[in-house]
Amino acid sequence: MDATQRLPIEIAGLGAYLPERVLTNGDFGKMVDTSDEWIVRRTGIRERHVASDTQATSDLAVAAARAALQAAEVQPAELDAIFVATCTPDYAFPATGCLVQAALGATNAMACDLEAACSGFLYGLSWASGMVASGMARKVLLIGAETLSRATDYTDRRSCILFGDAAGAAVLQLSRNGGEVLYTELGSDGSCPDILMIPAGGSRRPASHQTVDQRAHYMQLQGREVFKLAVTKLTELLQRLPERAGVSLDQIALIIPHQSNVRIVNSAFERVGLDMAKAYMNMDRVGNTSAASIPLAMTEAVQAGAIRRGDLVLLLAFGGGITWGCTLIRY
Ligand code: ACO
Repeated sequence: MDATQRLPIEIAGLGAYLPERVLTNGDFGKMVDTSDEWIVRRTGIRERHVASDTQATSDLAVAAARAALQAAEVQPAELDAIFVATCTPDYAFPATGCLVQAALGATNAMACDLEAACSGFLYGLSWASGMVASGMARKVLLIGAETLSRATDYTDRRSCILFGDAAGAAVLQLSRNGGEVLYTELGSDGSCPDILMIPAGGSRRPASHQTVDQRAHYMQLQGREVFKLAVTKLTELLQRLPERAGVSLDQIALIIPHQSNVRIVNSAFERVGLDMAKAYMNMDRVGNTSAASIPLAMTEAVQAGAIRRGDLVLLLAFGGGITWGCTLIRY
């Protein structure tokens, strides 16, 4: 699916939340057979934040949402819709979005969840901006929030070093400050679900003593396959963008890629002749936070002055499903 937005929809405000507890590469050296040197060289990650025992995904989401509402100068009661992009919800149901709705006191908002793994925030951006553009909603709160630490197998060195917990949020509205969602391309391919999945706990393999013994409630990934597909899909998105969106890669001020592995971003950038200086990267400090990754990085980039109002910014995602997408915005 690709689309050019008709009515100008803008991000009115952004916010993010990182839990306090930090897991360094050194901490992993005590859990599994790995080293700081291997993790940095193969992923670019040095540390990641992890939720406390009492924090669930909705707690992180609410903290990020409050910051985004404050930045947008929007009251919870003004919200018409809340979407939480997550693959680690508090419960199978009720939706994490509903828990956030109640915690914020967003009494006029519909709320639900969206699961597109690491592409979830960009999928949600298309829902949110589409609702505002159609007149169905005036103000939409979109959150990407994850507690991947709850789905991480800390005995599996091939995957446990990658993931962190976080939340990022954005408030969408009709443009008042010159911002626009200019172009969106989203895609999926569900033909290879087992390269990245949580095998048990759903209707295919409900929880049982056996699934627990098999550690099947944890994320399982075929890293090399995911790596190759991610590079291919991100490269294709970048190659198609100039013709489809009518914008050259040179005109883009900053690219915010999903923070999965620095080598994935590097490889895709190399293939289209992009300099890594064009990418905002924070994975060294936060790891892969799935649906939270892009709004977290974008919030940081705005706060650091790396994005200013009027800049062209490209958001770029790849994740489980598999899913992928890019969204070009004028901030
Ligand atoms: N420390 C030390 N050695 C390791 C570690 C580790 N943490 N992990 C793997 N190795 C070893 C392997 O055992 C293997 O050893 P062997 O050759 O003796 O068998 C060797 O390193 C190479 O293993 P690979 O899996 O080929 O390593 P690779 O370079 O591909 O890096 C990684 C693995 C980091 C997982 C990479 O493939 C990757 O980043 N993949 C994509 C990331 C990803 O899956 N993202 C998920 C998106 S999440 C979502 O959508 C929710």
